[in-house]
Amino acid sequence: MKNILVTGGAGFIGSAFVRHLVAAYPQYHLVTFDKLTYAGNLDNLLPVKDAANHTFVQGDIADREAVRSTFEQHRIDTVVNFAAESHVDRSILAPDAFIMTDVVGVYILLDEARQHGIGRFVQVSTDEVYGDVPEGFSTEQDAFLPNSPYAASKAGGELMVRSYHVTYGMDTVITRGSNTYGPYQYPEKLIPFFTTEALDDRPLPVYGDGRQTRDWLHVDDHARGIDLALHQGRPGEAYNIAGEDLRYNIDVTRMILRLLNKPDTLIRYVKDREGHDRRYAMSAEKLRALGWTRQHTFEDGLQATLDWYRQHEWWWRKIKTGEYLDYYKKQYADRLAAAEK
Ligand code: NAD
Ligand code: DAU
Repeated sequence: MKNILVTGGAGFIGSAFVRHLVAAYPQYHLVTFDKLTYAGNLDNLLPVKDAANHTFVQGDIADREAVRSTFEQHRIDTVVNFAAESHVDRSILAPDAFIMTDVVGVYILLDEARQHGIGRFVQVSTDEVYGDVPEGFSTEQDAFLPNSPYAASKAGGELMVRSYHVTYGMDTVITRGSNTYGPYQYPEKLIPFFTTEALDDRPLPVYGDGRQTRDWLHVDDHARGIDLALHQGRPGEAYNIAGEDLRYNIDVTRMILRLLNKPDTLIRYVKDREGHDRRYAMSAEKLRALGWTRQHTFEDGLQATLDWYRQHEWWWRKIKTGEYLDYYKKQYADRLAAAEK
């Protein structure tokens, strides 16, 4: 393994992975390949801007020619695919881009990888493929029951990866991460959205009764889990990367407000997300057997994350303009207006 292509490496988790690998493995050359959609952000890669072992290429994983020329130009031997449309609410508003990237894009990337004799292909996936888990903890053998267009598109991508292992013998590994939080997360996701809104004393739209459960994982723990799966995962296997720290959304919301010293009166209960999964929960046993453990508790990780957003207004204020505001209006204007009646 020498030349690693990290697709989607300008996003939240991909950039954490790139920053980690650049520092931890000076012997590798990393190529970040990213379309720079609304969620892609070169500011996330500023810490590696001068690194001798990192190159950035702008491109789309669904563009066969761009993928092919990048494989050849950089003599890629390993792929780690983070590239995806990743936000459930946007998938409900407009599923098209999800199918194009999370299914068709994964297929094109895989197919080119096969034709170029790529050694290992890691597909970064999600606990959402298991669907709602009313009780217990999903293990890697559980059936897929995805409920949103996002979750279904991720399941479709994963199944293509599986088929390339079984049919063509490709060396693939799949990771399924739980809800991830930390620095550089696009402020449409619960924690950075509520944090940045609360800092501006704006209302926090909690969907439904707020008693949906999510399993929280710090982004650095997620990146280290993918690193381990890349280096030690068995071909054809999938590995859950779970924080195993389950919280109600309303409790997370109240923690954010308390840590920012803001009042609970900012909370608004709004119309629920359509098809909203009530609970996600996975077992991390299989990855633990490879030596992974979580290093951040949710309390410490959340405190550090809120401090980061407080200290990096320059990063998020320039995102919360233009397209972001159009999306905010579509997603929240009616919900908040109805809640205030
Ligand atoms: P993100 O939305 O922050 O970043 C996605 C990145 O992919 C962006 O940089 C974007 O520009 C890029 N991209 C999108 N379409 C592309 C295309 N066609 N070609 C090339 N690049 C493209 O997402 P994230 O939260 O960092 O998630 C990364 C991966 O991890 C995704 O595959 C997601 O499904 C998965 N995941 C996320 C979480 C989470 O809680 N955020 C949890 C588990 C798994
Ligand atoms: O579980 C892993 C998944 O976690 C990843 O695969 C996805 O890419 C990632 O976006 C995330 O999906 P969720 O839908 O769980 O995350 P989100 O931050 O959008 O929402 C977390 C919970 O908070 C969910 O139950 C919906 C709720 N929520 C979210 C927003 C944005 C609200 O109540 N209000 C909101 O405004």
